[in-house]
Amino acid sequence: MGCFCLYNNRTKSDKFDFSQISIISINFDEDINKLLSLEKKSFDNKAFTLKCFTKLYNKSRKTSTFLILKYKNELIGYILAYLNDDNEGYIASLLILEEFRGKGLSSLLIDKVLELFIMSECNIDKISLHVRVTINLYSKYDFQIKDTIKKFYDKNEDAYFMVKILK
Ligand SMILES: CC(C)(COP(=O)(O)OP(=O)(O)OC[C@H]1O[C@@H](n2cnc3c(N)ncnc32)[C@H](O)[C@@H]1OP(=O)(O)O)[C@@H](O)C(=O)NCCC(=O)NCCS
Repeated sequence: MGCFCLYNNRTKSDKFDFSQISIISINFDEDINKLLSLEKKSFDNKAFTLKCFTKLYNKSRKTSTFLILKYKNELIGYILAYLNDDNEGYIASLLILEEFRGKGLSSLLIDKVLELFIMSECNIDKISLHVRVTINLYSKYDFQIKDTIKKFYDKNEDAYFMVKILK
């Protein structure tokens, strides 16, 4: 399990101890149960299942882009990204536990995934994702809306398809 970084100076809040944050590659067997309960707590009936996480974990292994975020050793967020069949990066999911939102933590995860995709030897020229509401978050990283996918999440919810060109 690789520990990528510790952060101590990117803060929007004085009380939160950023030195206690670590972002690491998931150790699937060790972390999956905690991740499933975080996912269920946050997404309820739209949560990824074990089967889904297992499939996407296998896809992410080539680029090691399934990362978890811990605060004081507790799992409080994750990002799951992988290389798709067209050799493009795809960010499938991003989550920060509700009480830890608004501190810039998701940006730390996005930063790390973009770095891993860019540094990989897979010659990736494009990264994409689908979002419901967090367009602003990804716009900051030069993701641009390319399409609206009707009923992507369910019959009442569309998605925006966003793309960032690397080369
Ligand atoms: C989306 C999510 C991961 C953001 O995590 P976070 O750590 O609170 O985000 P940050 O503090 O890094 O915020 C970064 C930016 O994201 C944007 N943002 C965050 N949540 C947002 C939301 N629900 N709607 C619109 N924009 C949002 C804000 O514009 C913020 O920019 P600011 O710094 O200018 O205010 C978190 O709210 C979450 O887990 N939500 C539920 C899961 C979800 O919706 N995931 C889908 C993401 S594609």
